[in-house]
Amino acid sequence: MTDHVLFISGGTSGINLGIATGFAAKGGKVLVFGRDPVKAAAAASQICAETGGVAMPGSADVRDPASVKALFERGVAELGAPSVVIAGAAGNFMAPAVGISPNGFKTVIDIDLLGTYNVFKAGFDVIRRPGSMIAITAPQAEQPLPQQVHVCAAKAGVNMVVKVLAMEWGQAGIRVNAISPGPIRGTEGVERMAPTEADKAHWSRAVALRRFGTVDDIADAAWFLSSNEAAYITGTILDCDGGMGLGDSTGDWLSLPTR
Ligand code: NAP
Ligand code: COA
Repeated sequence: MTDHVLFISGGTSGINLGIATGFAAKGGKVLVFGRDPVKAAAAASQICAETGGVAMPGSADVRDPASVKALFERGVAELGAPSVVIAGAAGNFMAPAVGISPNGFKTVIDIDLLGTYNVFKAGFDVIRRPGSMIAITAPQAEQPLPQQVHVCAAKAGVNMVVKVLAMEWGQAGIRVNAISPGPIRGTEGVERMAPTEADKAHWSRAVALRRFGTVDDIADAAWFLSSNEAAYITGTILDCDGGMGLGDSTGDWLSLPTR
């Protein structure tokens, strides 16, 4: 399939920009948006320059359903109805619970959980059928992590939104899945979670495949979930994390011969 139209929140940087670039490189048209219109314009230009494809920039705050709805209507007018809607926008910071105010906790819940719901609801009104919706979740949805109480709670909620909407919207021809990336090289998320070289070394050792992922790893997973080959897959949380979700693979007892 090369006639995909993708609408992606958070598509203006990092993992989501990589997903959008992957779709555009394969002939799809993409609407990338975040809060900052300047960043969105730069991202769309970069996609067009790298792929020769079609990219429309947009600005909307996923916490504000009216702004998302209005942008999606403009997107349909310019690019046509989407075949794929991805809720990728998120906010994160490392802080212990005693250092997070009620508004700090609420801010991440609002962007990640309510924002995913708002993007999916706006997507439901415009998506082609059959269509594919994908949330970008995280291992923290199932794996408790200190200094991440807000993110763990938000992403756990995201996973449940995916599963319930998959049940409700399957009969409408809409598949709803999530991708759970591990630590992805060169992204804001990794810079926030692992700011020092020592932190990065720890995380790459803790992952079973002993390396950080790349944005292309996640772009390929998103392309697969939106393809005909995934036509019978819905309600799935696809771990694309090098085994991070299995738990911490660090440990001398794991230093086994590799062949
Ligand atoms: P990133 O580069 O910081 O991208 C975040 C994107 O979300 C930006 O486009 C940002 O644009 C947008 N955004 C933030 N708040 C928004 C809001 N309220 N409304 C609309 N857009 C908003 O992040 P990343 O590290 O690539 O992570 C992308 C996704 O992957 C997230 O869902 C994250 O939880 C997940 N993830 C990342 C990793 C990792 O290793 N990086 C691992 C697991 C999961 P503006 O700033 O212009 O709004
Ligand atoms: N530790 C504790 N609390 C923090 C914090 C930190 N490092 N950073 C922000 N907060 C709190 C603020 O103090 C504020 O609470 P308060 O009003 O009680 O003081 C609350 O969070 C909201 O902060 P604000 O800066 O107004 O939010 P925002 O909506 O402008 O930005 C963030 C949202 C905080 C998540 C911001 O980091 C962001 O925009 N992130 C997007 C990029 C990103 O996180 N990428 C990684 C994705 S994995």
